[in-house]
Amino acid sequence: MQKIMLLNPKGGCGKSTISTNLAAYYASWGLNVGLADFDPQKSSLNWLRLRTFDLPKIKAINANTEHFLYPENLDYLIIDTPASLEREKMQQLISLTNSIIIPILPSPIDIQAAGYFIYQLLLKYRITTEDKDICMVANRVRERSHIYSELMKFTDSIKLPLIATLHDSQNYIKYAAKGASIFDNKEQSALSKTIEDWMPLTDWLNSKELPNSYKKNIN
Ligand SMILES: Nc1ncnc2c1ncn2[C@@H]1O[C@H](COP(=O)(O)OP(=O)(O)O)[C@@H](O)[C@H]1O
Ligand SMILES: [Mg+2]
Repeated sequence: MQKIMLLNPKGGCGKSTISTNLAAYYASWGLNVGLADFDPQKSSLNWLRLRTFDLPKIKAINANTEHFLYPENLDYLIIDTPASLEREKMQQLISLTNSIIIPILPSPIDIQAAGYFIYQLLLKYRITTEDKDICMVANRVRERSHIYSELMKFTDSIKLPLIATLHDSQNYIKYAAKGASIFDNKEQSALSKTIEDWMPLTDWLNSKELPNSYKKNIN
């Protein structure tokens, strides 16, 4: 089972949007997908409640700091996280997951907050890219804006890969309102630009079939 966690304590950076779309992406391939939501606001699970039966099924996993049970037969477990997690829980979830995605918005406050958070992640939690597949994703981007180039300068200065740039698009909001994702639409050609944004991220995740630590053991 591949476990993918969306992490960044900054609210509104896109954790739930990326979690739900990623869960729907894997479900659209006929895979057995669970969506765990640690946020008390339960945005991801509320989204799932709106999902209609004709759409590929995603299992709801209600998670909190005391309780986290998921079926062992899942192909993918997507973990959405809240603004704050206790250190112990954070450590536990980090060790459990194969891949961590950090969404960052092109805004001065978000760039600053991401800098602080990544610094903590690398130092306090001692994460290295050798042991964990961890990447950044720029979200809600409007290219050619000054702040986008500031975000690029920031991500260039960080020792983590920036894997994808997702543009600001009303499509996410439109589909989320019906428990759907950009991957659920039958007429995907209308969404081709939005879907194209995801290709580097899905390619990166699909190339990580086994966590690095396992790969190291095998080699
Ligand atoms: N790429 C995007 N384009 C347009 N709106 C987006 C995009 N990503 C997120 N949003 C919107 O931004 C808001 C915050 O996103 P959300 O995923 O809930 O963030 P988080 O879970 O990190 O708090 C939501 O209203 C969501 O629909
Ligand atoms: Mg959220």
